[in-house]
Amino acid sequence: MANIAVKPIATALGAEIEGVDLAQDLSDGTIAQVRQALLDHCVIFFRDQNFYVDQHKRLARRFGDIFIHPNFNTGDHDPEVVTIVRKPGDTRIVGEEWHTDTTMMAEPPMGAILYALEVPPFGGDTLFANQYMAYEQLSDGMKAMLADLKCTHTDRKVAGPGSPAAMAKRSTAVRDDDQWRETRNLHPVVRTHPETGRKCLFVNHSYSVAFEGMTEEESQPLLAYLMDWGHKPEFTCRFRWEKGSVAFWDNRCVKHLALHDVHEHDRIMRRVQIAGEKVV
Ligand SMILES: [Fe+2]
Repeated sequence: MANIAVKPIATALGAEIEGVDLAQDLSDGTIAQVRQALLDHCVIFFRDQNFYVDQHKRLARRFGDIFIHPNFNTGDHDPEVVTIVRKPGDTRIVGEEWHTDTTMMAEPPMGAILYALEVPPFGGDTLFANQYMAYEQLSDGMKAMLADLKCTHTDRKVAGPGSPAAMAKRSTAVRDDDQWRETRNLHPVVRTHPETGRKCLFVNHSYSVAFEGMTEEESQPLLAYLMDWGHKPEFTCRFRWEKGSVAFWDNRCVKHLALHDVHEHDRIMRRVQIAGEKVV
């Protein structure tokens, strides 16, 4: 087992892990330590890593099957890997709204491992928000109202012909072909984390559009409130990237946002997502 150190970077969530070389084929004991750190801190970070695509995938497979993202599967690259590229002149970037990844799926990914290949000298940070805290700090009245509520999640804003993501100048392509079809699924507004057993808020700006049995217009006031509430500054941490940095987030209990504040420089990241389960 590696002699690892876990150093929180904020009160709400996030910890840097020292003493692990992710390029190695890690022991079961070290993987268990990393998994426990992820469960405890919701998002974990590693510095000065150096690994190739095959090592990246091997690492992801220690935590589950690799998730193939339907909208980034444009047919011109390895479907198990998404390279997230930002170039000067891009008007939009991947993940610039507060979101949980890929929640239009019936079984959204449990997490993602994002590796920095090229980063700007400043800017391009990623923010994360703890959705356990977002739930736990609601009033008892609001918790009671949300207890049995479900919400529709759709990918129509982030992919497909005419979507804002497809229409913008963006270096990372998303499917916008005529064969693309919207994916929609209902999820509980409050989910129970399958490993920790704790409840967390599970709505987000990129995908959540309407409560079950209600119109989008009717849903909007409460839904907008909950989505904004979920990233109160006290619930967040902010990660400053360096080349070779890695972020591994638990997609079941965090939202995140890629800050769109870089204008002159390239930012290139490689992501592998890990399959999740039905949301309950
Ligand atoms: Fe994301």
